[in-house]
Amino acid sequence: MNIKNVIVDKEDKVATVKINRPEKLNTLSIDTLNDLKMAFKLLAKDEFIHVIVVTGEGDKSFAAGADISELNQLNEDSGFNFSKNGQEVFDIIEKYNKPVIAAVNGYALGGGCELALACHIRFASENAKFGQPEVNLGIIPGFGGTQRLSKLINKSLALEMILSGQHINAAEAYRIGLVNKIFKQEELLPKTLEFAKLIAQKGQIAIRGAIQAINLSFELQPGEGENLEAKLFAECCQSKDFHEGTTAFLEKRKPVFSNK
Ligand code: COA
Repeated sequence: MNIKNVIVDKEDKVATVKINRPEKLNTLSIDTLNDLKMAFKLLAKDEFIHVIVVTGEGDKSFAAGADISELNQLNEDSGFNFSKNGQEVFDIIEKYNKPVIAAVNGYALGGGCELALACHIRFASENAKFGQPEVNLGIIPGFGGTQRLSKLINKSLALEMILSGQHINAAEAYRIGLVNKIFKQEELLPKTLEFAKLIAQKGQIAIRGAIQAINLSFELQPGEGENLEAKLFAECCQSKDFHEGTTAFLEKRKPVFSNK
């Protein structure tokens, strides 16, 4: 599957979605965002793919944000639509029915940082740099950054990053909980794929339920969240995977999940 600005590779139930505009540091032009949306829509229907890894081509940049030459043309109306379009793509990723892992291989700035924030898990290379530099351009983050960053780290740190527009390095991103793990550049993709393949072997009904329950814990009231958890837990209990997983444990063998 090759969509102009995004390359999709598939191996062992894992798809790698690579943003492919290295000469522009993998900036998220409108076309690139649409390509990402298309790739995710197609992969959602691919029953052989269980986990998605998102990364950028090359060893310098994951995604250096929205394309500033396109931003430069925006007015109030088109700016609203531009923001809504980016939000829609990243909402698809956050609510995706399969785990999405960001392998941040360099700059993750502006929309690039917001893309990483929308993914379920973030790994980074030692040279990765994170930032929301929009204020340097006279705008605020518009692809969900003001909403997701404060939930992931905390309000004060999110304000520090967004108001200063400064970049932080991978070690600092790890310290504040923005990334889960850091690897040497050459190890980032192999280690991320190894982790993705580990998740891909699990029963996918349970994996889907866990993503849904954790995502909704940020939206629902505590009692409602627990009701949803019980409902999803019950759905797992009537799956073949649940029978296989528990039986395999009792029979001291590895489970073979059918995702049914
Ligand atoms: N939009 C459009 N073009 C961009 C871009 C962006 N967000 N980020 C980088 N580019 C382009 C540069 O203009 C340059 O193009 P050119 O070779 O045709 O001149 C090319 O990508 C390489 O970038 P360059 O600035 O030369 O690389 P660098 O290593 O000196 O600096 C950055 C890298 C990421 C620090 C710098 O490019 C930068 O600050 N980019 C803007 C990041 C940003 O503000 N993103 C948020 C947008 S909301």
